Amino acid sequence: MSLQKIPGLIDIHVHLREPGATYKEDFYTGSRAAIAGGFTFIIDMPNNPTPTISNISLEEKVNLTKQKALCNIGFHFGTNGKNIEEFKYAIKSPNVFGLKVYCNHTTGEMLIEDPKLLEDVFSNWNSKKPILVHAEGEQLSTAIYLGNKYKRNLHVCHISQKCEVEMVREAKKKGQLITAGVTPHHLYLTKEALISLKGYAMMKPPLGEDSDREALWAGLKDSTIDMVESDHAPHTKEEKQTGPDNKAPAFGVPGLETTLGLMYKAVKDGRIIEEDVIKFLYTNPKKIFNIPDQKDTYVELDPSIPYIVGENKYESKCDWSPFEGMTLYGKPQTVVINGKKILENGMIINNK
Ligand code: NCD
Ligand code: ZN
Ligand code: ZN
Repeated sequence: MSLQKIPGLIDIHVHLREPGATYKEDFYTGSRAAIAGGFTFIIDMPNNPTPTISNISLEEKVNLTKQKALCNIGFHFGTNGKNIEEFKYAIKSPNVFGLKVYCNHTTGEMLIEDPKLLEDVFSNWNSKKPILVHAEGEQLSTAIYLGNKYKRNLHVCHISQKCEVEMVREAKKKGQLITAGVTPHHLYLTKEALISLKGYAMMKPPLGEDSDREALWAGLKDSTIDMVESDHAPHTKEEKQTGPDNKAPAFGVPGLETTLGLMYKAVKDGRIIEEDVIKFLYTNPKKIFNIPDQKDTYVELDPSIPYIVGENKYESKCDWSPFEGMTLYGKPQTVVINGKKILENGMIINNK
């Protein structure tokens, strides 16, 4: 094995479920999953059972991560359109990296449907910190319109459809402040995967057609899409199976432990070049979300060495992956965070 050193990677879109749903994941297990996957700085989303829309709930999360997390963690603030007075404090907080706005139904209770409330949010988030949108199709065109009107830094989360890639490309051509992230599952899977994976392939936005998937790879190639974000969204196996009460499976798939390996597979397959891995998982997210330098922080791995997803279990509490059994490349062997070795020979050694 000939190890190479890369920077500690950044994932700006994860759901670590604490507080409120720690039976799915918590800051300890979620940060272990991050480290196993080569990420040393991750940003947690606000859609907890009690949403992170007040500064009290934000501080609660900050304190929990101080006690439990093994890697660096930042936060996106949430909004339901009625917490505008909390924005000033959140904008100033060094722990907050953006504002998350939900324009479509997904896990959590923060959907904003009223156009007046949505406009209030855009006009009042008076900050260079990006507004991140979950906005599919038509909703995305509204978000792009508002982002342009108020000159906000707009980040399109988990872009998934061909028409959305075209919208972002057009907006960039016109000089709008807009960026986009894509998940590995939208790059690798199409709705065909539902046949074999069933509930395990259900997420928001839903998997698309082959033409969507190809448009996403093309969007990465011409820099319409700036980064890869895992959208690590763990749910238990029970929640992903249709139960006897016929309740629909929960939306979302875990991704922290497979994202980097899937990107090195893309290099192997000729989809991207090796430099792109660092660009999409470090350089661009760092610049766009203004992530501080991580001193004495790095990862060592050999991108030519294969491994099989799931062969050594998972660090994530949810204990499954939609990519189980797939051959990926470049499993992290060493992770050092802020001068402290946390992973050695592929195993986490430094527990809290
Ligand atoms: C996410 C979750 O479960 O928190 N689910 C998903 O399907 N992506 C929420 C989200 O990112 O939309
Ligand atoms: Zn979403
Ligand atoms: Zn998400």
